Amino acid sequence: MDRFAGRAAIVTGAAQGIGAATARRLAAEGASVAVVDLTAERGQAVVDEITEAGGTAAAFGCDVADQASVQGMTERVVNRFGRLDVLVNNAGITRDNLLFKMPLADWDAVLRTNLTSIFLCCQAAQKYMVEARYGRIVSLSSRSALGNRGQVNYAAAKAGVQGLTTTLAIELGPFNITVNAVAPGYIATAMTAATAERVGASFEDHQRMVATQTPLRRVGQPAEVAAAIAFLASDDASYVSGQTLYINGGAR
Ligand SMILES: NC(=O)c1ccc[n+]([C@@H]2O[C@H](COP(=O)([O-])OP(=O)(O)OC[C@H]3O[C@@H](n4cnc5c(N)ncnc54)[C@H](O)[C@@H]3O)[C@@H](O)[C@H]2O)c1
Repeated sequence: MDRFAGRAAIVTGAAQGIGAATARRLAAEGASVAVVDLTAERGQAVVDEITEAGGTAAAFGCDVADQASVQGMTERVVNRFGRLDVLVNNAGITRDNLLFKMPLADWDAVLRTNLTSIFLCCQAAQKYMVEARYGRIVSLSSRSALGNRGQVNYAAAKAGVQGLTTTLAIELGPFNITVNAVAPGYIATAMTAATAERVGASFEDHQRMVATQTPLRRVGQPAEVAAAIAFLASDDASYVSGQTLYINGGAR
């Protein structure tokens, strides 16, 4: 498949996990991919993997929670690839705690990294997309948007992503820009490995426990989220906008 031939994409938080799988998938389908993470060094292994497989990618260091950093990165990506067609807002963090124990700093960090960052990246990217009358934006929400004990900050941010998505679909639709979100359930990555550690379970036991509560009887893999992101970022989804697609093995 070459659904992204001639297209350029930014994937934030692409050094590992879902972002790395998305960068690999978009590159395998022909996109030039900006592998964006806190430092360019962090993303270099993913870039090497993509280029060794015959794809095109470059690593960019950027703190998505910082406006100047996002603006600078977006400009550098457009200078490098000559265009910007796809933005995948994937970078995210967790700082879990029950409300009564949660420091304000952890509320702020999660809102800023998971939600404000998307406002910043969309604002920087829309400039090029509006001019080109073409754009595909896909952001990471989460099943936690529906409520998850110990994640008041994360759930609020991920629910916010859904509101931002429906609104930007309205604002950017007239410029042929679609805006969608995916809301994964439990995906086996460093993020869920850290959750397992926090609750005192091995990663394997934690996944087994979650699997028993999931209709498909297993947890998800990064490539399975990447496939859905690639669909929403492609022209196969040209009339899909303002949607959040849950990717959670059938869990309610
Ligand atoms: N793993 C899951 O079960 C799951 C479920 C639902 C949603 N999500 C969401 O999917 C996205 C990716 O999750 P993951 O599990 O692959 O996480 P991960 O922790 O494995 O990777 C996140 C990446 O984002 C980068 N990052 C963090 N803060 C950044 C910043 N300020 N600027 C630039 N990069 C930054 C990290 O360096 C890391 O490489 C996140 O938005 C997460 O909330 C994950």
